[in-house]
Parts: sequence; structure tokens; C-alpha cells
Amino acid sequence: MQKPLIVVTGKNGQLGWELMQLAQHYANDFEFLFTDRDQLNLADEASISQFFQTHQPAYFINCAAYTAVDKAESEQDIAYRINAQAVAEIAHHCSFSNTILIHFSTDYVFDGKGTTPYAINTPTSPVNYYGYTKRVGEQLALENHSSTIIIRTSWVYSSHGHNFVKTMLRLMKERDSIKVVADQKGCPTYAADLAAATMNIITASQNGNFHPGIFHYSNAGETNWYEFAKAIRDAAGLTCTVEPITTSEYPTPAKRPGYSVMDLSAITEQYHIQTKVWQESLSNCLAVLKEEGVK
Ligand SMILES: NC(=O)c1ccc[n+]([C@@H]2O[C@H](COP(=O)([O-])OP(=O)(O)OC[C@H]3O[C@@H](n4cnc5c(N)ncnc54)[C@H](OP(=O)(O)O)[C@@H]3O)[C@@H](O)[C@H]2O)c1
Repeated sequence: MQKPLIVVTGKNGQLGWELMQLAQHYANDFEFLFTDRDQLNLADEASISQFFQTHQPAYFINCAAYTAVDKAESEQDIAYRINAQAVAEIAHHCSFSNTILIHFSTDYVFDGKGTTPYAINTPTSPVNYYGYTKRVGEQLALENHSSTIIIRTSWVYSSHGHNFVKTMLRLMKERDSIKVVADQKGCPTYAADLAAATMNIITASQNGNFHPGIFHYSNAGETNWYEFAKAIRDAAGLTCTVEPITTSEYPTPAKRPGYSVMDLSAITEQYHIQTKVWQESLSNCLAVLKEEGVK
């Protein structure tokens, strides 16, 4: 019997790469096709429709996105094209080919004024253009295809790609002291954990336990960037001094929400996904980096 095909976009990004590492464990159950922008370019509508002419996957995992939060303020057209318009087109094709769409969004859809974790139905109000494009992408995906799962995630890092953890490790080795913003609260997400959760959702769906709609997934707990930086330093055995600063002392082109912790109960209840506390996942990632000789 033919195995169900899973297509993954953004294979060179953090999440796409982690899914690629995991795929070997699912090789008996699924066929995988990992794509980069040469095979499937989200900036080009023709590339998307041509792709669906030749492939009718059972699952389409869209890890590709325009993720440069600050640059999105000045590159609005391309950010909107990739994070919103292309998602609508993908959802439309998924609807025709009876494909379950799994798409990722962000804690930056929230305005940051909350003080307790955001539920999946908390009203959204993004404070930057990236967050706006991701929110429109969510809406267009759900409008164009009922079999869509949106997973909002936050503060993603991995041993692969560019992220806060790797930047901190580099700076802490180069400098005696660094300053990190302490008044933005959220929760980190190890992309390897998110990849595992995504495959658990697909396995559940394959077994008839499919629940479309919006879900939140991060590691468990909450922190701020300053505390996160100190945890990275301590877990890596480095000695750099980390000083707390306020957001106003570190101006960026795009505003950030002050509070973006998400309530994870929907994904736990519907898909029985267990989440690791962020400190545990951080040490898992640092162990991988050490193995790879990065640390
Ligand atoms: N990173 C975070 O902190 C964070 C936080 C919340 C939510 N998210 C969401 O989580 C998802 C995964 O994020 P990530 O951290 O894995 O992202 P990432 O590491 O920045 O990877 C994004 C991928 O998208 C690809 N891409 C960009 N433009 C493309 C195009 N026109 N056509 C095809 N592919 C294109 C990139 O390809 P190239 O490698 O060729 O550039 C890259 O492989 C995204 O939806 C993101 O919005 C991320």
C-alpha cells in the first residue's frame, strides 16, 4: 500500500530542518518530500500551482515564512506575499487536493498587554507588520480550507539556523559583558520539540483523531530575554556578565509585545501533547550543539 505523502516547506529553516531529522523515525509510515525555495517558491504563485499539479500530499506542513521581524517593517510587500497571500494559495490548493494543512503562526499576533497566558481565542492585535502578516495568513488559511491546523509558537531556537541561543553563545564568548532586554516576557520553543509535536498531531490525525483550528505550542513556563540569556550562559558554563536593560534602551524597527506567553491547554487536551519545561529543552539543545562542536 502507498504511504501517505507529507510535504514540508522551508527545509533549510529551523523547524523544517528539525522535521527532516525526525523523518527517518517515521519512514515506515509516511513518505516525505522536503522542499526549499527552488522547488517551491512562496513568492511566486505559479510555482505554488505547478507544485500542486504534480503533488497531492496527504499532509502539507508549511514551515516556510518571512521571519525577519525588523526587516518586515521596510519590506512589507514581500513579507505579506509570503506570510499571507502564499498561505491563502496553499490552503486553496490543499482544499482541492484533500490535503490536511499544518501552518505555523506566532505569539506576535498578540498586542502584549496581557498578564496571563493567552488562550487560543484571545483577541489578536499585532503590534508589528510581521505579526500582522502572520495573523492575516492564519485567517486566509482557515477561510480557504477547513482542514487546517494553525500552530502558534514563540521564541523558536534550534541547533540549526539563526536564533537567540546561538547569538548569545557567540556574543558571550566574544565579550566580557552583554546587555539583554528584561521587560519582554514569553516562552522559548525548541524547534525539535515543535517538530515532534507536529508529527504527533499527524499520527493522531492519521488515526482519526483530527481537530482543525488554532493551537498554541511553546515549551512550558515563562521567562524574559534577560533571564533566558543567563540560563544559556549558566547551562553552557560561560562567565560573561549579563546586564538587564529595558526595551526603550534597545530600540528596534519593529515593536515587540511586552507579554506573549501562550496558554497550551488546547493542544494538550485535543492532541495529548506533553510539553517540556523550557530549561530542560534548552539543555537538550545545548547538548546537541556540544556534540556538533559548536559550543
Ligand atoms: N523563529 C521564531 O522565533 C518564530 C517565532 C514564532 C513563530 N515562528 C514561525 O514558525 C515557523 C518556522 O519558523 P523558523 O524559525 O523555522 O523559520 P526560519 O528558520 O527563518 O526558516 C524560514 C524558512 O522559510 C524559507 N523561505 C523564506 N522565503 C521563502 C520563499 N519565498 N519560498 C520558499 N521558502 C522560503 C527560508 O528559506 P531560505 O533558507 O532559503 O531563506 C527558510 O528555510 C514560521 O512560520 C515562523 O513564522 C517562528
